[in-house]
Amino acid sequence: MDTLENLKAELMGAVAAAADVAALEEARVAALGKKGRITGLMKEMGSLTPDERRERGQALNLLKDEVAAAIEARRGALKRAELAHRLEAERIDVSLPVRPQAEGRLHPISQTIDEMIAIFADMGFAVAEGPDIENDFNNFTALNMPPEHPARQMHDTFYLPNTADGAARVLRTHTSPVQIRTMLSQKPPIRIIAPGRTYRSDYDQTHTPMFHQVEGLVIGEDIHMGHLKGTLVEFCRAFFDLDDLPLRFRPSFFPFTEPSAEVDIGCSRKGGELKLGNHGDWLEILGCGMVHPKVLEHCGIDSTRYQGFAFGMGIERVAMLKYGIPDLRTFFEADLRWLKHYGFVPLDVPSLAQGLTR
Ligand code: DAH
Repeated sequence: MDTLENLKAELMGAVAAAADVAALEEARVAALGKKGRITGLMKEMGSLTPDERRERGQALNLLKDEVAAAIEARRGALKRAELAHRLEAERIDVSLPVRPQAEGRLHPISQTIDEMIAIFADMGFAVAEGPDIENDFNNFTALNMPPEHPARQMHDTFYLPNTADGAARVLRTHTSPVQIRTMLSQKPPIRIIAPGRTYRSDYDQTHTPMFHQVEGLVIGEDIHMGHLKGTLVEFCRAFFDLDDLPLRFRPSFFPFTEPSAEVDIGCSRKGGELKLGNHGDWLEILGCGMVHPKVLEHCGIDSTRYQGFAFGMGIERVAMLKYGIPDLRTFFEADLRWLKHYGFVPLDVPSLAQGLTR
C-alpha cells in the first residue's frame, strides 16, 4: 500500500507540474497509457490469489480514477488559463485613438460622393438608390425616350438578355432612372440626389465603360427654374470651395427636361493650365432642366399641379477638376500607389461645418 501511496504522490505531482496541454498528455500516457505505470501494475495482478487480486484491484481502480480526475481538472484549468491569457493579449481598448499611421485610403470617387451628400443633405436632400441593372422603361421610355427615339443611340447601351416575361434589360446608362423609381414610389414633395455607377460601351482617354453620376430631383407645387439655379450655384460654390465661382446656364436639349440647360463654370486655361474661378473662360460640368410633363405623367404625378427640376453630373469629371487628377482611366486601375497619392483619410468625414476636405 505504501508503494501505491508513493506512486500516487508521484503521478499527482507530475499532473500538477504539467505546464501546458502537451505536458499534461505526457503525464497521462506515463500513468494511464498502454505502457503506463498504473496499467503495468494492473497487468501484474494475474499472479495474485483471488482475495489479494480483489483488494489490489480495488486499490488500483481507485488510484486510476483519482489520477484520471486530477488530469481532467488540470486540463480544464490549463484551458481556462490559456483562454484568459489570450483574452488579455488580444484585448482592445476601444477608447484609444486610432493609430495615426492608419494605412487605408478612401478612393477619390467615394470621397467626392461623400462631399456631394454632405452639401445636398444640408439643403434638405435625401439620398436615393437604384439598381445597376435597369429595365428599358425606367432607363429610357419613362424618361421620354420611347423605342426608336434618336437620343437612345447616344447612350452606347450595354444590353442584357430579356427577362423571362420578355422585358428588355440594360446596364443603366445614366442615374436618371432613379428619378423614375423615386417618383413611382414616393409622393411629392420630393428632394433627392442619387449618386451611383453608370455604364456605356465606350473606352478612350475621357470615357470608361463604367463611370459614376449623381442625379438630382426636386418635385413640388411651386418649383421653378430659379430654384434650380440657386441650388446648383450653391452646390458648385460649396463643392469647389470658391465663393465667387460664376455659373452660366446655356440652353440645351434633353428628352426628359423642358426647358433644358447645360451648366458651365468659370475658369481660365492660360498657359495650358486649367484654373477654376471668375476668369472669363467656361467649362461645362452638368446637364439640367425642368422635369418634362410627360415624365411626371409616366410616374402618375399630376403635371398640372406639380413641377420640378432635375440635374445630372459626372462624378469623375468634377473629382478630376477638384483634385487635379489628370487621367480618367487611372480611377479604375486599382493602383495602390495612385490611391496613396490621391486617396483620403477615411476618418475625415466631409461636413460643411468642419470642412469638406482636410
Ligand atoms: N442623364 C443625362 C446624361 O446622362 C444627364 C442629365 C441631364 C440628367 C439633364 C438630368 C438632367 O437629370 O435634367 O447625359
